[in-house]
Amino acid sequence: MQQKGWEFVGDNGEFVLENPTMNNYLYFPLVNEAGMMSSITPSLHGNINTGQNSFVTEPLSAIDLHNNKSSRNFWLLIDNHKVWSATGCSSKQETYKFNENKESVRLEAGMLYHKIIRENKNLKIKSEITNFVPITEDKVELMKINIINTGNKTKTINATSAIPLFGRSADNIRDHRHVTSLLNVIKTVEDGIKLTPTLSFDERGHKKNDLRYMVLGRDDLNQPPIGFFPVFEDFIGEGGSLTWPEAIVTDNKYFCKAKEVFEGREAIGALKFKEFELKPNENKSFILAIAVSKKDNSEDFVNKYCNLESFQKHLDTNQKYWNNIINKAKLKSNDSEFDQWMKWITIQPTLRRLYGNSFLPHHDYGRGGRGWRDLWQDSLALLLLDPKPVKDMLFNSFAGVRIDGSNATIIGSKPGEFKADRNGINRVWMDHGVWPFLTTKLYIDRSGDLEFLFKKQSYFRDNQLNRSKKLDEKWNSDNENVLKDNDNKIYYGSLLEHILVQHLSIFFNVGEHNNLKLEGGDWNDGLDMAEDKGESVAFTSLYASNMLDIADLLKDLQDKLNVNSIELAKEMNILLDTFNKKIDYSSPKEKQKLLKRYFTSCETKVSGEKIQVDIKDLILDLERKGKSIIDHIRKNELIKNKKGYEWFNAYYDNDGNKLEGDHPLGVRMTLTGQVFSIMSKVASRKQVKNITASVDNYLKDDKVGGYRLNTNFNEVKLNMGRAYGFAYGEKENGAMFSHMAIMYSNALYKRNFAQNGFEVINSIYNHCKNFEKSRIYPGIPEYIDSKGRGLYHYLTGSASWLLLTMIEEVYGIKGDLGNFKLQPKLVKSQFNKNCNTSIETLFADKKLKIIYHNPNLKSFSHYKIKEIKINNEKIDFKEKNNSALINRNIITELKSKEKHIIEVLLN
Ligand code: G1P
Repeated sequence: MQQKGWEFVGDNGEFVLENPTMNNYLYFPLVNEAGMMSSITPSLHGNINTGQNSFVTEPLSAIDLHNNKSSRNFWLLIDNHKVWSATGCSSKQETYKFNENKESVRLEAGMLYHKIIRENKNLKIKSEITNFVPITEDKVELMKINIINTGNKTKTINATSAIPLFGRSADNIRDHRHVTSLLNVIKTVEDGIKLTPTLSFDERGHKKNDLRYMVLGRDDLNQPPIGFFPVFEDFIGEGGSLTWPEAIVTDNKYFCKAKEVFEGREAIGALKFKEFELKPNENKSFILAIAVSKKDNSEDFVNKYCNLESFQKHLDTNQKYWNNIINKAKLKSNDSEFDQWMKWITIQPTLRRLYGNSFLPHHDYGRGGRGWRDLWQDSLALLLLDPKPVKDMLFNSFAGVRIDGSNATIIGSKPGEFKADRNGINRVWMDHGVWPFLTTKLYIDRSGDLEFLFKKQSYFRDNQLNRSKKLDEKWNSDNENVLKDNDNKIYYGSLLEHILVQHLSIFFNVGEHNNLKLEGGDWNDGLDMAEDKGESVAFTSLYASNMLDIADLLKDLQDKLNVNSIELAKEMNILLDTFNKKIDYSSPKEKQKLLKRYFTSCETKVSGEKIQVDIKDLILDLERKGKSIIDHIRKNELIKNKKGYEWFNAYYDNDGNKLEGDHPLGVRMTLTGQVFSIMSKVASRKQVKNITASVDNYLKDDKVGGYRLNTNFNEVKLNMGRAYGFAYGEKENGAMFSHMAIMYSNALYKRNFAQNGFEVINSIYNHCKNFEKSRIYPGIPEYIDSKGRGLYHYLTGSASWLLLTMIEEVYGIKGDLGNFKLQPKLVKSQFNKNCNTSIETLFADKKLKIIYHNPNLKSFSHYKIKEIKINNEKIDFKEKNNSALINRNIITELKSKEKHIIEVLLN
């Protein structure tokens, strides 16, 4: 069937999609800060949970959306014999699927609600079902079912909900699913059913369960159900199923009343409502609450949510809440569809903060919590939207750094809570150390809070020592996860010291080709089989440019705060070799030897003694280190192949061989190597030009929305990682992996290749909005597969980088040590017919609308900022590298809380 795509219908990303059920794997997020995490599909399948160990409904992977019959079903028995699922989930309605004339379905969705309208033309009945998770302290999803008689005869209707409850840990799907059902105690209460398993089952130690999983409901006259079918097997009946349940199709009258108890059975939220009559055009509604609670408070939930008025009130609050988040950055370009699409991008970093990398159907891994790398990168976007809470989050997260430069991998939901690798594996991702500095730098640039660097924080300590190469046998898991000194006191160092530890120590951790070791992997999680000889040239260059940027930041500390010396742990003196006797940086052996010395000095604890180092010497040390890396990469890692293409090699495999270049099985090239050589300025301007030509030739593929992560190596490279076991074109093996592609765009913008940068974003956008190909709702997915479908929607770091790139690079709204900087890199097509384009965003807590006016439609390389007016008054600015620098005071002194208009003339 020809599929028409979604269309935006409002100003806050609202969209409609006809026939959404004619697509597989579509899902939509419903979530709140209290910890309710749901996903919902057009047929109302999807997960509902509050964590790994508290799945309200059965945990699902993407395939289960079409392979499993559990859903939020709502049955009608019309005139005693016509069975109809208001959600389309009946065996009969399945058969309508490829027949357009039987039932029409339409989705209407927005921030963050999901409404499905289904109409059966034969039965002349229509349902409108709205789901959302209210913005309250409660872990609850609400669902309103409105039934409309579209015929011209009165109907008699019996309505029953059917929402199977799982009520236990996701692990129990394949760890005693049946035995754990024996723990179930199901009670019927006046308004619904309540499942309270006796224990939370875990063979490592069973715990008393204290959660109640509930399905509660009332009708629009505030009447509770008349009865229940709380036991799954009784509801479906012998020979029946969830899509043809005996209780419904035979109109079973043996339902039970409130206050009954059933033990040791699988549960279902089957609430039977009083029979009602619907005249033509009349409607009747039901409101359900699917809740998890530690308290025995089903009545509170019903009173608070299960009536029409409060449902609407909470729905309104919900929309306001999410709209407020997305409108903290608002684009008005020449393409209003793009601007609406960006609203879904804007919400994505918040979604990942709430879901982590788990709990949506494709994200069928992880156990909650957030990964180190993702936390720091998602904070980039969160900093742009709402910097206040992010400052504390950054500060707390620094406590995850180990003194050896590595870090705890999973961050829990409470401040400063860290967890070891989810699989208990001792491994280090070598890229982890680069991200905290990038995010901290953005925070400082936008706030001017240089003092932040001097805040004291502890270090993480567990049984992993020396970048996980050694385990502390004496470590006891009851120990606090903090590094102590000789006096057994918690050791604290400045955040700057943490950042320096991360860069100075890894500098010496090189492989035989003098690039940083790949260790357990880098940004690419799939490169996990080259621990011995693997090297990541790509991230070596990013560490190098960080070192140079840290050196620049130290110069700012000198200038702005008159800092002359920096306090560091005494042991770090070893890493500052240029102070005493500089080792030979071309010798990997010498580097490793020095690193060993450092590790020995602080293996299990530190002395607690501090040294004061001269800031000038520290700057020199960092510059020498950074430059030595850049020279090394320029000299040794540039590839020129037989066809004359030029690019940078990103990796060495576990046999110590260069990964990229001409190869008998086909040319080998990665996007990663190009992104970071461009971003870190390893590549000269001329080389950037050549690299883009190579990328266009080897990696660009319009079928998948742009730039692939790598060419086809045609080999399961066991000496590189699991990624090359994936089919080519999927995930980390050559998909259009949005995160890397967006970072490519960001790098190009940074080097002033605005047109090229724009094309990367534009091609992804055009692909995503082409619903027939991408089959996803608005937003950016983690990747586009070989057939063009978007996968792992919503929870992806690419959203954060896209927002960052749009605000900081494209519209050029930046901070410069607290001052306000404008450096737009807009291309002609982004201006409207009046030659304007604008963005609304926050800076220094002020709401600003920046309107760029480009009367002669000059291209980025030709225009300059000629004049700036704030609220109609011309202001002074300093020109700096083709940008305008505006004193922070000018912004902070703006009085009103309303939006301020900044008009910028480009000519
Ligand atoms: C995901 C992970 C991220 C990892 C990337 C590549 O990317 O979350 O940590 O670096 O895969 O393996 P995302 O789509 O979130 O950007």
